[in-house]
Amino acid sequence: ARLVVLVSGAGTNLQALLDACADPAYGAQVVAVGADRSGIAGTARAQEAGLPAFTVRIPDFADRAEWDAALTEAVAAHAPDLVVSAGFMKILGPRFLERFGGRIVNTHPALLPSFPGAHAVRDALAYGVKVTGCTVHFVDEGVDTGPVIAQETVPVRWHDDEDSLHERIKQVERRLLVDVVGRLARDGWTERGRRVSMKCRTC
Ligand code: GRF
Repeated sequence: ARLVVLVSGAGTNLQALLDACADPAYGAQVVAVGADRSGIAGTARAQEAGLPAFTVRIPDFADRAEWDAALTEAVAAHAPDLVVSAGFMKILGPRFLERFGGRIVNTHPALLPSFPGAHAVRDALAYGVKVTGCTVHFVDEGVDTGPVIAQETVPVRWHDDEDSLHERIKQVERRLLVDVVGRLARDGWTERGRRVSMKCRTC
């Protein structure tokens, strides 16, 4: 399966996918990396891996709809079977969802439906939960609302701050994302009782 990975920051989830894809048995390959910001480590990781990287920044467009259209075209140019939002911190637009709906997965650093949004780790700490974790889910038009594919728990320690907790969640998150993407790439998934293959939808 061809993967386009979207990033906004450090790109450690991207790196985990790149490392997994080095094994042909994994069943997927990252064909391009897209970002919404310039000068981020995620894009540098793509370049180091010899992969095409593109940046589509919201401020470069007249409005959100134009940005949505440009991002959709930039991703479509790489004919992905699966789009992986791996720390991509923008809400994907209606055009993007129309084009790739059902083939976009996101990783989120909390146990959805608890603590959706951009500050999931901070919000979980502020609430005082004793267990949190991460979720890999399909993306729909809501914010972190799509169907859950897999989740794993991470205990909160009494001395945790946002950084220490997020770092422990990310260790689990990277493993879970690699596992889910590999399974989707190799086996497809079942949707309303029907098996949907991810293999070569676009080739
Ligand atoms: C991850 O925890 C992701 O879920 C969150 O941002 C982090 C991205 O980490 N939304 P990285 O850029 O993959 O290192």
